[in-house]
Amino acid sequence: MTQPAFRAPKGMPDLVGDSLAATVRLQTLAASIFGRYGYREARPPLLEERTLFVRSSGETSEIVEKQMFVVHRDEADYALRPEGTPSIVRMYLQENLHKQAPFQKFWYSGPMFRYERPQKARLRQFHQVGVELLGSADPIHDAEVIALGARFFVEAGLPGVAIKLNSLGDTVCRPAYRDALLAFQRQNEAELCEACRARMDINPLRFLDCKAPGCKTLRDRAPSIVRCAACEEHFDEVKSLLTSAGIAFVLDPTLVRGLDYYTRTLFEYTHAGLGARDAVGGGGRYDGMVEEFGGPPTPSIGFALGVEATLVALEAAGRPPEKAIAALDLFVVGAGGATRAQIFGIAQECRAAGAATDFGEFGKSVKSQMRAADAAGARRVVVLGELEFTTGRCRLRNMASREEREIALFELASALRD
Ligand code: HAM
Repeated sequence: MTQPAFRAPKGMPDLVGDSLAATVRLQTLAASIFGRYGYREARPPLLEERTLFVRSSGETSEIVEKQMFVVHRDEADYALRPEGTPSIVRMYLQENLHKQAPFQKFWYSGPMFRYERPQKARLRQFHQVGVELLGSADPIHDAEVIALGARFFVEAGLPGVAIKLNSLGDTVCRPAYRDALLAFQRQNEAELCEACRARMDINPLRFLDCKAPGCKTLRDRAPSIVRCAACEEHFDEVKSLLTSAGIAFVLDPTLVRGLDYYTRTLFEYTHAGLGARDAVGGGGRYDGMVEEFGGPPTPSIGFALGVEATLVALEAAGRPPEKAIAALDLFVVGAGGATRAQIFGIAQECRAAGAATDFGEFGKSVKSQMRAADAAGARRVVVLGELEFTTGRCRLRNMASREEREIALFELASALRD
C-alpha cells in the first residue's frame, strides 16, 4: 500500500468521530456552566502580535522562550496564541469595553498552540476552555473563579481533582521576596540547575517550580514569602470563602505557575491520572496586565482548563467519554425502478421538514445500502423502488425494534416526528 503524501503536523491530531464528540461535549458543558455564572463569550483571533505574549507572559517564561509558533509576514511577527488571557485583555482595551463598565466577565474556548514535545495530554495544538474576570480585586471573585473551575470537573464527571492554592503577594511585598530568593540562589549557585542559574536575575521565582532534583532539594532551605498585611488579609478571605462554600484546597507555597503575570492568588487543578505534569487546569490573578497594556488599573483573575488533559484524566479515572452517536432520523434506500431524482427529492423533503436524512450509494444493492444505514446509526429506514412510487405507499422500518409501519409516501416527513 502506498503511504499518504501528507500527515498532520506532529502533536496536532485530527479531531473526527469519537475524539471530536468528546472534545465538543466538554466545550458545550463549559459554555453552559460559564453562562450560568454570568460570563459572556469572547472570540479573539487565533493569531496575535508576538509581542503581546512577550509583554504579558514574560521573556523568561517557558511559553515565550521555547513554545511559540511564530509567523513572520510583511515585516511583522505574529504568534499562534499559546493561551487566551493576553488576547482577552487586549480586546477589553481595544474594544473600549472597560469604558462601558470596568467590571466584565468573559469566557472563551478553542485551540491553543505550544511547541512542546508531544506526549500524553501534551500537544502542540490543544484546546482550552477558560474565563477571565476583569475589574475586581474582591476576594469573592477569586473564590467564584476557583469554584467555577471545580464545578466544571464535577459536571464533567471527573472525580479526584485536587485544588492547589498559593498567593504570590503584590507589588508591595513581592519585590522583597524576589530579592531574598535571588540572594539565596546566588549563595547556592553551584547547586542550581543550568536553567535556573541562567534566569535567576530576570526571574528568581521560577526556581520555586523547577523540577530539577538539585533545585528541588535546595528548595527546602529557601526563604518563604512574607506577604504584606493587605495580601495576607486578601488570601485569608479567599481561603475562608472557599471553605464556607465547601471547596477543599491544599496550600502549596511552591506553586508559581510559569507565567510572569501572576499576582496574589494562584491555583491549579490537578489529577493523579495525568502523571508528572498533573494539571488539568490552572489560573490566578493578574492585577497588573491591563495597566501593562496601557489601560487603567484593573485587577483581574481567570483560569484555563485543558480539554485533552481532562479527557485523559477521565479515561484514567475509568470514565471514558461516551462514543459519538450518529443522529440520523432516516436513511433512504433506493431499490429497482427508483430514479436518482425521486430519491434525492424525498431526502430533500424530509430534510426541509427538519429530519436528519441521508441516502446510500445510488445503484448499489438494497442489502449493501441497508448495511450503510446500519453503519450510519440511522433510527429509521425506508426502501423506495418502483412499487412505492407507483402505489404512493411505503414501509417505514424502525431499526431498533425492527417494526415496520405502512404509510403514504407523502406522510413520510411527518411520520419521522413520532
Ligand atoms: P496554563 O497553566 O498554561 O494556563 O494552561 C492551562 C491548562 O491548559 C493546563 O493546566 C493544561 O491542562 C492545559 N495545557 C497547557 N499546555 C498544554 C499542552 N501543550 N497540551 C495539552 N494541554 C495543555 C494558562 O494558559 C493561563 N492562560 C490560565 C489563566 C487564565 N490564568 C489567568 N487566566
